[in-house]
Amino acid sequence: MTPAELARAIPKAELHIHIEGSLEPELIFALAKRNGVVLPYASVEALRAAYAFTDLQSFLDIYYAGASVLLKEADFYDMAWAYFERAKADNVVHTELFFDPQTHTTRGVPMATVIQGLSRACLDAKEKLGVSALLILCFLRHLSEDDAIATLEAALPYREHFIGVGLDSSELGHPPEKFERVFARCRELGLKLVAHAGEEGPPEYMWQAIDLLKVHRIDHGVACLQDPLLMAELAHTRLPLTVCPLSNLKLCVVNDLRDHPLKKMLDAGLCVTVNSDDPAYFGGYMNTNFVQTTEALGLSRDEVITLARNSFEAAFIDADRRQVLM
Ligand code: ADE
Ligand code: ZN
Repeated sequence: MTPAELARAIPKAELHIHIEGSLEPELIFALAKRNGVVLPYASVEALRAAYAFTDLQSFLDIYYAGASVLLKEADFYDMAWAYFERAKADNVVHTELFFDPQTHTTRGVPMATVIQGLSRACLDAKEKLGVSALLILCFLRHLSEDDAIATLEAALPYREHFIGVGLDSSELGHPPEKFERVFARCRELGLKLVAHAGEEGPPEYMWQAIDLLKVHRIDHGVACLQDPLLMAELAHTRLPLTVCPLSNLKLCVVNDLRDHPLKKMLDAGLCVTVNSDDPAYFGGYMNTNFVQTTEALGLSRDEVITLARNSFEAAFIDADRRQVLM
């Protein structure tokens, strides 16, 4: 079996997937029709043709527009279910989904609609597909910390449906320190903590995520290569980094997949994992990321196995399950 074949076949966890980023253009159009939403694109092809991004913000503008078709509980369910079927096909046995409630509540969609639709899909994923799924509520960092606190309060009646909180959206100009209070409150509540940092932002934002937010994982984190002290710290603590190679390529963080720092991060002993981020927008789901990265970087079979094991080491699963999967 070649390393790429192994990458395809090996059981794995996906820990960095924005469920709104799994909305395929076909589903966007189907939901727009079902809900009577008028889209600013004439066709699926015209929408897909707009997926030419120059940086994170150019993507986020289209991503938030795509999410505007989500109105009813069934829409959230259908979106998540479509992702779970693809995850299953890629031998993903456990997945942790980010969702962005503020993208929906600011349009008047109730928090209950969002969480109940996603949660019901998670239950069915386990029961019907054998894929375990957890939800992570993300705060939009371009909005205020007060808005994040209000969002947390609105979500607390549904506390049993999400395992943790994250921080996403426009990174530059919105450092982790802006969200220190809300993360402290989430820590008191026993929630798992993650944050996007070092995607477009500097290593300093990763230090802030570690020291101020006290995160259990960092999402992306590719900027750590610029800071040898940070590399040493991450190797020592094995704080996981959920890396998204095709996202980095599509958002021009790297110019060529062959230049992606994932192998250097592995060589340095970091707990890095491979993930799809926003697969409907970036050209592929888990196995496309895994296989293309394996081929572009010439990863060995052992490195592929390490990446899969890292995904279980980094997952928010209990020790018994981790032992079985690793
Ligand atoms: N929201 C969805 N995808 C994102 C990404 N790659 N970075 C920050 N926020 C996001
Ligand atoms: Zn992301």
